[in-house]
Amino acid sequence: MAQIIKGDEIAKTITDKIKDEISNLDVKPKLAVVLVGEDFASEAYVRGKVKAGKRVGIEVDIVRFEQEVSEEKVIDVIKQLNSDEKVDGIIVQLPLPEHFDVAKIVNEISVEKDVDGFTYYNAGRLFRGNPLLSPCTPQGAMYMLEAMNVEISGKHAVVVGRSNLVGQPLARMLTAADATVTLCHSKTKNLKNITSQADILIVAIGQSRYITADYVKEGAIILDVGISRDEHNKLSGDVDFDNVFDKVSMISPVPKGVGPLTVAMLLHNTLKAYKGELCG
Ligand code: GUN
Repeated sequence: MAQIIKGDEIAKTITDKIKDEISNLDVKPKLAVVLVGEDFASEAYVRGKVKAGKRVGIEVDIVRFEQEVSEEKVIDVIKQLNSDEKVDGIIVQLPLPEHFDVAKIVNEISVEKDVDGFTYYNAGRLFRGNPLLSPCTPQGAMYMLEAMNVEISGKHAVVVGRSNLVGQPLARMLTAADATVTLCHSKTKNLKNITSQADILIVAIGQSRYITADYVKEGAIILDVGISRDEHNKLSGDVDFDNVFDKVSMISPVPKGVGPLTVAMLLHNTLKAYKGELCG
C-alpha cells in the first residue's frame, strides 16, 4: 500500500508563506498572463492562476488576443509589459495557435520577468547549474520530493517524456540533486525494462493511465505529471493509479498532485521577480 502524496496540502504550505509575506507589502506583485485564442484547457489553467493569485495577494492580469492575431501584435504587447514597472512577471500561456513561432514569442519576455523560466536564457542558466527563474512544473516536482523527505542523491531517477517544459528541465534538476538520471521518450526501446529499474519514476507524457504495475519497481516513488481526460471525461494521469498502488511506496495522484505545485511555484517565481532576488 502506497502513501499518497497530497500535492494540494504541500502547495498550501507554500502559498500560505507567500500570502504572509505579501500581506506586509505596500505594493502588491503583479503577474501578466498572455492568452491567445480559446483553448479550453488553457482557459481552465488561467482561471486557476487568477484564483491562486487572488488568494495570496498577487494581481493577475489576463491579456487576451483572438486566435487570428499576428505575432507582431503579441510581441508589441510583451514589449510594453517588459517596460511596465508595475508588472513583475509575464507568462505566455501555451499552446499558442499554429501560426505562432513559440520560441520567438517567449524569448521576447524580459529574463527578469520570465516567471515560467521558458526563455532560452533561463533554460541555459538552469542547464549550466546556475538557475535564475526555473520552469514551474519541474520545480514543483522537486519541491514535492523534498517535502516528502525523499532522498534523491545516488538514486536512479527515470523521467519519461523529454519536453522542453517538463522532462528535460526536470532531468537536469534531478542530476543537480545527485540522482543518476535516465530520460526516456517516445523512441525509447524497452521502456518497461528501464522504468522498472527506477527508484524514483516521474512520468510526463500526456497519455492516460499508460504506466501500469509491470512498468514499476516494488517500493518505487512515483510522480505523475500527466493530466488528461479519459473516455468518461474524468481527469486522469499518465499512471494507472489503482493498478500500481499496492506495488509502490509513494505516489502523487491526479488531480491534487503535481498540478497545485505548478501554480504555487508560479506564485513563488512572481514574488521572487518582484523582490528582484535575481542575482548573478
Ligand atoms: N501550458 C501548460 N502548462 C503551462 C505552463 O506551465 N505555463 C504556460 N505558460 N503554459 C502552459
